[in-house]
Parts: sequence; C-alpha cells; structure tokens
Amino acid sequence: MSARPRILSGMRPTGPLQLGNYMGALANWVTLQDSYECFFTIVDWHALTSDYADPGAIRENILEVAADWLAAGLDPQRSTIFVQSQVPEHAELHLLLSMIVPLPWLERVPSYKEQQQQLTDKDLSTYGFLGYPLLQTADIVIYKADAVPVGEDQAPHIELTREVVRRFTHLYGPVFPEPRTLLTETPRIPGTDGRKMSKSYGNAIYLRDDPDTIRRKLRPMVTDPARKRRSDPGDPDKCPVFDLHKAFSPEATRQWAAAGCRSAGIGCLDCKDRLIEHLLERLAGIHARRAAYAQRPDTVWDILRDGARRARAAAAATMDSVRAAMKIRYEPARP
Ligand code: TRP
Ligand code: SF4
Repeated sequence: MSARPRILSGMRPTGPLQLGNYMGALANWVTLQDSYECFFTIVDWHALTSDYADPGAIRENILEVAADWLAAGLDPQRSTIFVQSQVPEHAELHLLLSMIVPLPWLERVPSYKEQQQQLTDKDLSTYGFLGYPLLQTADIVIYKADAVPVGEDQAPHIELTREVVRRFTHLYGPVFPEPRTLLTETPRIPGTDGRKMSKSYGNAIYLRDDPDTIRRKLRPMVTDPARKRRSDPGDPDKCPVFDLHKAFSPEATRQWAAAGCRSAGIGCLDCKDRLIEHLLERLAGIHARRAAYAQRPDTVWDILRDGARRARAAAAATMDSVRAAMKIRYEPARP
C-alpha cells in the first residue's frame, strides 16, 4: 500500500505528558507523520515491569497519554495508534526472542543497573524487568520498522534491537530489517525549579494544564540567581526561563528578553509574562482538542481499539513468517 518507510515508537503510560515529553518526542512524531508510515504505541506491559505491584493507575494513564497524543496532532487516520497489550502478538514474539538473546546482552544494557539503583523503592530484580529492552525489541521488529524515533537515552535499546535482529537472521534467515535510530534532538526543557522537567521533581508543566495553572506555575519560576533585584542585570544563559524562551518564543522575543535581561531594562516578571503568552499560543489548539477528548473517553478507547485492530493485522503477518522461520509453523497458513 504505502512505500513510505515505516517507524514505530512508544511511551509508557506513566501519566499526563509534560512539556519535556512534548518537545523531546511528541512534537517530532507529529511531524514525522508527513514522511513515514507510523506506528505509535502506549506500552502498558513496559509500565508493569516497574509498577507490577501497583498497577491501578495504568488504565487512567493510558487515557491521559492517548488524549495528549491526539490533542497534539497524532492522526489516527494516518497513523496506527494503539495499546501494546491489545496486540498480544508482541508477547509471543518477546517469548520467541527470549530463546535466542544471551543473558549478558540484557545485563549490560545501561538502563538496567541504573534504574535498579535509582528506583530503590521497587524490587526490580525480576525476570520481566531484565527483559524490558527485549520487549521493546519485539515492539519494533514485529512491524518491521525501518527506523525508531527516540531520544539519546533509548539508543542502547535500539542497538540491542539490531543485535537481536542479526542473531535471528543468522540462526533462521532474514525476516526482520535492522532498524535505524532516528535520534530526536531534545531541547533543554527545565522545570519551574530550574532542574530537568520531571514529574517526580514536582516541577512540571503538563500539556493539560489550563492557562491559569500555567501562569501560576511559571510566574514564580527560578531565574538567574544573580538577578536578585530589578536593577541587577542578569545573564540569560544562566536562566532556565530563557531556556523556555528558546523552546517556545520567536527570535524577536528572545532578543528582546536577552537584551533587556543584560541591561536590567526589563524585570523577570515582564520576561516571564511574554514567555507565558507564547507558550499559551502554542498550546491553544492542544488545549481545545484535549478538552474534547477528556470529555469523551469512549471515543478515545474506540480510536485505540481500531488502532490495535490494524496493528494486529501487521503483527500477525510477521508472526506467521517468524513461526515458519523457526520451524514451529506446523500447519499451512489459513487464507
Ligand atoms: N522504552 C521506551 C521509553 O521508556 C518506551 C518504548 C517501549 C519504546 N517500546 C518502544 C520506544 C519501542 C520506542 C520503540 O521511552
Ligand atoms: Fe531570566 Fe528573563 Fe529574568 Fe533574565 S529577565 S533572569 S532571562 S527571567
């Protein structure tokens, strides 16, 4: 049908998306729809690898993520948008790939030990958590994706994916292409306290935050610490508010802010109010669409169900070739 190269990417349903997720991934996905055949999946099984003891929020979080995706402009007409567990073929492929992946390949993935050390409140010494990047491998190759748009942090997972594909090909012959990493430029998006924006720091601005909430969060945002008084000149390169200007304001406003900061010609509140204006302009369309989806969860589930149906057709075709290659297709495929 389509000769466009295919991409797949995914996000865990950890809750509503913040501006860092938007600028670092989602906004880029929206653009990629113009040149790629796209599969976007909400990976609830990946959420379970760390939240297995407390899965109660996953359903609601899927709805939040899906509403953000659709509001931001992922287009279910053009792209296949679905929940991972609604395509159980991913689990079958994960199992089959688990037969051939050497344990050390998984143990040496950097996120494995890092996360185990960081998330000390969870017991991550499980089989499922070790298999996290292999499940991701299955997500990608089951659609024979040519490329995977991700940030730097995910690059080792795509590298593992390529290694697993090569091993599969060596053992059973070619079924999967080796996917490329489509590295997403991630602008620095600080939170209101100046640290990296993150839900766990409590410093995040969410796509679903209404204009008043955004004003309330951004007005007291941390600035260049050298600008204690209105009359003190500041350095925009030391100010997290200016990082947000770089991400959301047009060039003319950035110049106005930088010059006014250095000369103490403007106050930080003037500077922030301009930023807020541009940010709200940028988010206006998203807010309008999101409100509509938030009121119609049934519509969102319908879209996801339809996406899963389309994804399953592609995944089932791949699984037929996989079973044949691995000599476990015992009966001829049904027409
Ligand atoms: N591990 C990814 C993350 O945490 C999510 C993910 C799961 C994914 N499967 C994927 C990303 C497949 C890209 C392709 O961000
Ligand atoms: Fe930051 Fe703007 Fe204040 Fe300068 S004027 S310190 S860039 S908020």
